[in-house]
Amino acid sequence: MQIKVKPAENLKQKPQDESKLGFGRLFTDHMLTVQYKAGIGWHNAEIRPYENFSLSPAALVFHYSQTIFEGLKAYRTPDGIKLFRPWDNFKRMNVSARRLCIPEIDEKFALDALVQLLRIEQDWVPHSEGTSLYIRPTIIATDPYLGVKAGEEYIFYIILSPVGAYYASGLEPVDIYVEDEYVRSVVGGMGFAKTGGNYAASLIAGELAHKMGYSQVLWLDGKERKYVEEVGSMNIFFKIRGELFTAPLEGTILAGITRDSVIRLAKEVFGVNVREERLAIADIFEEHEKGGLEEVFGTGTAAVISPVGGMKWEDKVIRINGGKMGELTRQLYDKLTGIQYGREEDIFGWTMTI
Ligand code: COI
Repeated sequence: MQIKVKPAENLKQKPQDESKLGFGRLFTDHMLTVQYKAGIGWHNAEIRPYENFSLSPAALVFHYSQTIFEGLKAYRTPDGIKLFRPWDNFKRMNVSARRLCIPEIDEKFALDALVQLLRIEQDWVPHSEGTSLYIRPTIIATDPYLGVKAGEEYIFYIILSPVGAYYASGLEPVDIYVEDEYVRSVVGGMGFAKTGGNYAASLIAGELAHKMGYSQVLWLDGKERKYVEEVGSMNIFFKIRGELFTAPLEGTILAGITRDSVIRLAKEVFGVNVREERLAIADIFEEHEKGGLEEVFGTGTAAVISPVGGMKWEDKVIRINGGKMGELTRQLYDKLTGIQYGREEDIFGWTMTI
């Protein structure tokens, strides 16, 4: 499919102070849009000025949440602008699409289109340490119809946002609240899909946690509320007695690309044994009592690798590693970001230069 390019007439001013970027508030001059109609398929691909959509108030996405998204980043490196495992994002987008009855996209076309968009917007990739251009591919159902059914019309779009750290605290460890009332997903549900509903379901617990001074919620499994699953915006890892534990991919958590990268780095670069196993929250707190809980960190595209300094579960509050970033967490962070920013050799072939 050919992509029509309609350049913006007035370009916005790029952010002057990159230390104030924050996350996801600024958008670049252009976006990609592709339309879908049953019987025609994906068509009408355009790179055009970033602007509001005009949609019917009855559009299916507003009522029944038929929407999926992805998150990846473009990094400014000494050898040009690089993407990190972008093919895995489009592959995962199709996994989400299948779960939500959304027509799949052509992964190769999507990646080529993204590269074309990035070449136009490359001046928007920020320069400072720790910054990047966050990429948000999204699909929404647009049919104006109030019956519950899968849409016949969709828009696939990609928008770009120059970003700094996801958490205002940067690399300072975050405190998390272990949620034992609400659940995020159950086996057979859509916890593995990257779809707005999963995030909407998490908001109430997040609000309550914030009021108590915690920045994130750690979800337990939806059946027994016993095993650790994920933190809404991140997968989570626990280093216990030299081994790294993280929840297995059983359909309830997101198959994070950063999660997968960290597992490979831990095993293959740092020689750490990684166990993708169910881990009971009670056992984690018990290990802390016994001195075995060494480090906790979250992983995600937006959050990168984010150390966890404290956790609250029921009436128990623990400090992890004295509230400081652990050594393995630091090594993994340095290695991963080293590959992403082109400071380290890309031993796994994870990056592509646009
Ligand atoms: C990401 O890490 O890219 C995410 O999608 C998390 C989030 C900001 C929802």
